[in-house]
Amino acid sequence: MPNEENSVVSPDHTPPTVIPDHVPPELVKPYPLLVGETTYEDPFKTIIPKMHAQTPVLYGPHAWLGMENAWVFCREKDVRAIFMDTEHFTSEGFSPFAKLIGENWAVLPVEADPPMHRGFRNVLAPELTPAKVAALENQMRSAARFYIEEFKSDGGCDVMEDFAARFPVSVFLNLFGLPLEEVDQFMAWEFDLLHSSDMTSIAGTMKAVKTRLLDEMRVRKEKPGNDLISHIVHAEHQGRLLTEDEAFGICFNLYLGGLDTVTTNIAWQLRHLANDIELQESLRADESLIPVAVEEMLRAYASVAISRTCIKRVEVGGVTLMPGDRVMLSTSLASNDPVAYPDPTEIKLDRAQRHLSFGTGIHNCVGVRLARRELVIALEEFLRAIPTFKLAPDAKILTHLGNVMYQECVPIVW
Ligand code: HEM
Repeated sequence: MPNEENSVVSPDHTPPTVIPDHVPPELVKPYPLLVGETTYEDPFKTIIPKMHAQTPVLYGPHAWLGMENAWVFCREKDVRAIFMDTEHFTSEGFSPFAKLIGENWAVLPVEADPPMHRGFRNVLAPELTPAKVAALENQMRSAARFYIEEFKSDGGCDVMEDFAARFPVSVFLNLFGLPLEEVDQFMAWEFDLLHSSDMTSIAGTMKAVKTRLLDEMRVRKEKPGNDLISHIVHAEHQGRLLTEDEAFGICFNLYLGGLDTVTTNIAWQLRHLANDIELQESLRADESLIPVAVEEMLRAYASVAISRTCIKRVEVGGVTLMPGDRVMLSTSLASNDPVAYPDPTEIKLDRAQRHLSFGTGIHNCVGVRLARRELVIALEEFLRAIPTFKLAPDAKILTHLGNVMYQECVPIVW
């Protein structure tokens, strides 16, 4: 039963929230990585280490997507345990997008639980194998070169606007068989869906994205091409064709999961290199170190937070969770846990390559091979084309916290 006296007002003055009785009052604390919060600090060097120093677990008002209260675990072992546990936690209903436009399709496979999950994941897995990713190599490399060429002789650029945002969108459009002229439109939609706090605007964008993708899905249903949309609309699940809602849910998962994440990671990695000239020069001198560096920076700058809902009473990290309890799984916190990774803010190329940036368990990122390849190609091409670079002296970088740790700009000079 909720305890009315045990209610708190969140720091952003949103309405008071009721804290259930099973939550120890001393664990009710603001969640600093709340959706909608921003900072000019580097959160990986300030907010996250501070959270680790303060508590291994908290119950944060509005921590669940800025709406409901949620448990937040800081320790890698607790986050890993929840990622692995489909008996006590469901992934259902964590995306607000369908509800926002009064519909009820699911984002698939990420919002499906076992046993349904596997069939939906099997639609995508054969399209994202090492061989399929290798076949995209030339296209990805020439897209990276194309964008770098545009600013190469300018002596500086905004990594976000000029490169990190555009490159993954072009890879996605190519996978989906959509024209590259739509890069700016898809970038704008993506930013609005994931970083706007204006619900009316998000709902309008959601409708526009749905209309655009559905139009294309219907065309490919009649006239299939050699692209992912055509594959998805003709895919089978449990011996039948996917429904239009299911096929859309899968296309939308790729859109949501495959763009912002790569963009964000490219930007954090180039920002790190702009501040760490020694590492930058080592990678330029020996490209064989780039995949290892990418992996270690994926850990240190893990940027995604994922949600779950408890469906069966369970103990995690010394606290009891009850059915209905929401949980935010911050890969940023987990991958910077000093217990799991000594000196977590330091980039050490000889660390064991194990982190939670791509999640783990049945929902672990199905696009992981493509993502890694995009990140490696991005760094290889950037370091080949651009001489020693550093952050612009007047750089003021605003980071949006929340589900993806997104920087508005990363100005660099060379
Ligand atoms: C650096 C880039 C990326 C990061 C950090 C990332 C991170 C993640 C994480 C943490 C999950 C687990 C979600 C959960 O447990 O609920 C996930 C799942 C997923 N990712 Fe990625 N991702 C990236 C790139 C991509 C790309 C490029 C694609 C598509 C080509 C993609 C498609 C997906 C899909 C479809 C799922 C759901 C898998 C399932 O539920 O079985 N991701 N990703």
